[in-house]
Amino acid sequence: MTTKIILDVDTGTDDAVALMTAALSPDIELVGATVVNGNTVLDSCVENTLRVFEWIGMPGVPVFRGMSRPIARFQAVHNPATRIHGDKLDLPEATIKAQPQHAVDWLIDTYLASDGDITLVPVGPLSNIAAAIQKEPRIVERIPEIVIMGGAHDHGNATASAEFNIWLDPEAARIVVNCGRPIRMVPLDATHRALVSLEDATRLRALGTPAGEAAYRFISKRIEGYDATQPMQRMGAAPVHDALAVCAIIDPSVITTRFAHVDVETSGELTTGRTVCDFRFSGRTPAEANFAYQPPNVEFALDADEPKFVAMLTDILGRTAG
Ligand code: BDR
Ligand code: CA
Repeated sequence: MTTKIILDVDTGTDDAVALMTAALSPDIELVGATVVNGNTVLDSCVENTLRVFEWIGMPGVPVFRGMSRPIARFQAVHNPATRIHGDKLDLPEATIKAQPQHAVDWLIDTYLASDGDITLVPVGPLSNIAAAIQKEPRIVERIPEIVIMGGAHDHGNATASAEFNIWLDPEAARIVVNCGRPIRMVPLDATHRALVSLEDATRLRALGTPAGEAAYRFISKRIEGYDATQPMQRMGAAPVHDALAVCAIIDPSVITTRFAHVDVETSGELTTGRTVCDFRFSGRTPAEANFAYQPPNVEFALDADEPKFVAMLTDILGRTAG
């Protein structure tokens, strides 16, 4: 049985791998992609998304242009990690176009008309999702699960405390995390445990498929950027954050989660955008808890299975459209 999903992206090199994984997986029906400001300016994120679908021969997946800035902060900030993403992906310019409808309105229409069977997968700042919930709160009950790439418990990447997607639009993240629906979060704690090496990327290229070639280009760029600016526990390997969130839909065992109360800091002097995780009460009842118990709301991933992740990418990106 396939899982229907909507992928909300700020494409970006790892978003691009996530898009290809979702589009080509036989276990996923990709209903559409909504695009948000984030890794680069909105126009480039949209263009990059269209390039990916055209390159893999799936120009029919609808792409919707969304929010060009956070919901409550005036300035649109972009990812300064240009060595990891850059502005435009290394693929030919798109000849296909985005849909005319705004992403927020499409999300609302699609969820209201749905049977409650479309998983929502945001892998960028949460501006589109929060804006849709604010405009039409009834959509929330139609979302069966939200699988978010975002957050960090041990350490951030945008700041010491905060992961980029949450940090860029913390007010939006707070709305989504507290919306009351089942949420799985795939934070840096998990994505940094599932690195893809240059040897893995070279094997993806050797698959001889458009997706394998593109994945090689994006992942080798990421490895160069990570080695130079944010070295991981071993050199020559990098996280491909957003693709891990997609793989967690196909096979939940690729991540290991803990059910905990999670909220987002929106006004900290040093910690804005931090996902504050209360692991004190995991597995305990309110009656057993002493201090400020709040019920768990998020399955928060703390580990990932690297070999399984790489094997999934190799299997899926070796496929072609149709
Ligand atoms: C997240 O930030 C973006 O740069 C990536 O695309 C990913 O979604 C990782 O912090
Ligand atoms: Ca992203």
